[in-house]
Amino acid sequence: MGRANKVVLAYSGGVDTSVCIPYLKEEWGVKEVITLAGDLGQGEELGPIRKKALDSGAVESLVADLTEEFIRDYAFPAIQANALYENRYPLSTALARPLIAKRLVEVADEYGADAVAHGCTGKGNDQVRFDVAIAALNPNIKVLAPAREWGMSREETIAYGERFGIPSPVKKKSPYSIDKNLLGRSVEAGPLEDPWNAPLEEVYEMTKAIADTPDEPELVDIGFVKGMPTRLNGSELAPVELVSQLNDIVGRHGYGRIDMMENRLVGIKSREIYEAPALLALIHAHRDLESLTLTADVTHYKRGIEETYSQMIYNGLWYSPLKAALDSFIQTTQERVTGTVRVQLFKGNATIVGRQSDYSLYTPDLATYGAEDQFDHKAAEGFIYVWGLPTRVWSEKTRG
Ligand code: ARG
Repeated sequence: MGRANKVVLAYSGGVDTSVCIPYLKEEWGVKEVITLAGDLGQGEELGPIRKKALDSGAVESLVADLTEEFIRDYAFPAIQANALYENRYPLSTALARPLIAKRLVEVADEYGADAVAHGCTGKGNDQVRFDVAIAALNPNIKVLAPAREWGMSREETIAYGERFGIPSPVKKKSPYSIDKNLLGRSVEAGPLEDPWNAPLEEVYEMTKAIADTPDEPELVDIGFVKGMPTRLNGSELAPVELVSQLNDIVGRHGYGRIDMMENRLVGIKSREIYEAPALLALIHAHRDLESLTLTADVTHYKRGIEETYSQMIYNGLWYSPLKAALDSFIQTTQERVTGTVRVQLFKGNATIVGRQSDYSLYTPDLATYGAEDQFDHKAAEGFIYVWGLPTRVWSEKTRG
């Protein structure tokens, strides 16, 4: 008895996921493997990937265009939450997983498959994100993860694939492990495994080295409506268009690189290089607009929510009751986060130089040091007396 009859496999076109196809059939007795490749704006031709899956033994090879849904329903809510894992990583890879999981489950349902599969190994976060998201969406479907169990080295995997007509990678293999989509690139392994090794310029694609950036600063105005990015330099743009244009603008000034030691959910520390030019600029700008339009207490309270929210995305809990509850909180806070932020890009920096909103809570008459000042200075005295009272009492009692 095989582990399943019909399986929908998340497919990238790489050696590992290709080898999953014959492996599922030969070793685990699966009768039919349907592959699903997701277009997430990674800028790769998916035609050849379709064919590769069929050549590797898939009965059906599907390509799903997920880019718009990815940006609108996964990236933009994360921007509203200013989501940064460990205060740095904007979750560009992590955000794609729940969407791929959702489509896997939908396709399994359409095709009457009794399992879904992915090519993740047992050491990363992505296996957790897939497995948990799939379980949340359909607790009755099996999840197969051949690469978590097969125990083959890289060479053995390639040799196994060759037996089933899967060509070994022709190009000199890059030493890096790379995940890529419209939001950014995540690069690990190879020389990066030594945290003391500076990343070589070759790891970057979306962002320029400072030495190659323009010698003139560039301004870009980012417009938001209810916390969602909607305009660049005054022109209204659809989500995907906005992110891709902003990637170009921001990337050519060298902003958006991250080099960090990161704590994976499975307990391993890893060294990660990220580039996510548009996403990081959008979070930076969005947070600034919030500082103009949210009250102090909401701003401060939201910080804690953002931290939890980021951890939940990182840890694979996109579809979960707490995440849904936090979404409601975040949505409520975004009601008046509408306005424009002006960002100056120059030599690897994105500096906010202006912000405006019809919902601004900034009150010049209160803030000014000029003659128009409306603030009641006398009131400050009584306020400070009451505010400082506990401290005064404490001091009197403890000084002896
Ligand atoms: N560490 C990141 C995450 O867990 C990125 C992992 C991406 N994979 C890769 N092959 N670099 O979201």
